[in-house]
Amino acid sequence: MKISASFLAIKENIKENIKRLDNSSIDYLHVDIMDNIFVPNITKNFNEISELLQDINTLKDIHLMVSDVISYIDDYSKLNPAFITFHLEAVDNVKEVIDYIKNKNIKVGISIKPNTMVDELIDYLDLIDLVLVMSVEPGFGGQNFIDNSLDKIEKLYTLRKNNNYHYLIEIDGGINASNINKLNGVDIAVVGSYITNSDDYSKTVEELKNT
Ligand code: DX5
Ligand code: ZN
Repeated sequence: MKISASFLAIKENIKENIKRLDNSSIDYLHVDIMDNIFVPNITKNFNEISELLQDINTLKDIHLMVSDVISYIDDYSKLNPAFITFHLEAVDNVKEVIDYIKNKNIKVGISIKPNTMVDELIDYLDLIDLVLVMSVEPGFGGQNFIDNSLDKIEKLYTLRKNNNYHYLIEIDGGINASNINKLNGVDIAVVGSYITNSDDYSKTVEELKNT
């Protein structure tokens, strides 16, 4: 399982601490973007985020928790990310948004909140590169893992196998060394506060990878 580290919970020396994540053995840097509309929280603006990520070598995994998806895609595609993921609940024109990201030569992810079922993704599963299952309500780091997300993972895993879909399965929220071994079938686990609240990021990432 790959680890995508979220820096949302870092409050001090943000740039230096993101660099510490970059220097650890994480596979992706998970960039959470919020607009105070889709979720009741807001992140830094695009120029500030670009500045923070200027010297980062790790592949970027952008998670857009926003309503005005297209304008954020226009901005964040400039960071040359590996994935841009938007929320199914945020848009009406899902296929257009998928194509909009694909046309920028960036891999496309769709995320679902804890109360959104996998069935609602059925029409898009053959078109996308990643499904991001939220295992907390999006908006804040440091919340507890919601167990129903494990059923969604199993369903996505079976659907992929039976239909030869190619999406990766990613899960985000409340993951730590005590529950990471429950995540059978997950390709990428997003981990935020468990890493960034620890003293030695590299050691914590290794612990997660070896659990
Ligand atoms: C929550 C974000 C997550 C969050 C994960 O809305 O999408 O990426 O930062 O943080 P932890 O691991 O602390 O739940
Ligand atoms: Zn996230």
